[in-house]
Amino acid sequence: MTVLPPARIAPSLLSADFARLGEEVAAVVAAGADWIHFDVMDNHFVPNLTMGPMVCAALRPHTQAPIDVHLMVEPVDALVPAFAKAGANIISFHPEASRHVDRTLALIRDHGCQAGLVFNPATPLDWMDHVMDRLDLVLLMSVNPGFGGQSFIPHTLQKLQQARGRIDRWQARGGQAIALEIDGGVKPDNIAGIRAAGADAFVAGSAVFGQPDYRRVIADLRQGIAQGDAQRSAAAEPDETIVS
Ligand code: DX5
Ligand code: ZN
Repeated sequence: MTVLPPARIAPSLLSADFARLGEEVAAVVAAGADWIHFDVMDNHFVPNLTMGPMVCAALRPHTQAPIDVHLMVEPVDALVPAFAKAGANIISFHPEASRHVDRTLALIRDHGCQAGLVFNPATPLDWMDHVMDRLDLVLLMSVNPGFGGQSFIPHTLQKLQQARGRIDRWQARGGQAIALEIDGGVKPDNIAGIRAAGADAFVAGSAVFGQPDYRRVIADLRQGIAQGDAQRSAAAEPDETIVS
């Protein structure tokens, strides 16, 4: 079993105070967040409406942390240059929302950003088969997209293990690094199992912004991640009953 890359915690602004977004970004980064997860919803691909490139550009001067843009929009391509110009670092999209997935992935990199593909709970991982070399990130949805505060769908853990296996095999053959991010219902009390299943980036919206002390909850999330690493190491130990 492979050792996972260092964990990244990406608080989702969807659950932040929209009247104080700049302060919220600065506060979660000061509290230990690695990335800022920026959920873009269009009331078409998903039944909700949130923020666009102008808000991303307005937040950019408030932090040096990478801005991880999750596009829940259809179509996708016209927004890629707009978000790149607005200072996004990572841009991810849902394959169902792009007519030409390979082209959209290339477009994101051509604009100087890292490219990610997002998998809804019922979207098969096969979508990554022919574009592995174009991916910087795979984002697995552990809820149906559109809203914060939903419960983690348990079977996502098996899908996460499968995605981890695909990425590990790709990298073992000399492929580039691909981050594996999970989004939806991540909490301090379930993050250990999610880490053990292979995630290395963790979106958390309501778990972080729903608490008064961001530093405390991010520390709790990191403690859970450490437990998940310990579970993986224990599972990787040779079984002495078989070895001896
Ligand atoms: C859902 C969004 C998530 C959401 C997660 O469509 O993509 O990023 O903010 O929120 P929680 O962590 O509350 O499930
Ligand atoms: Zn998201």
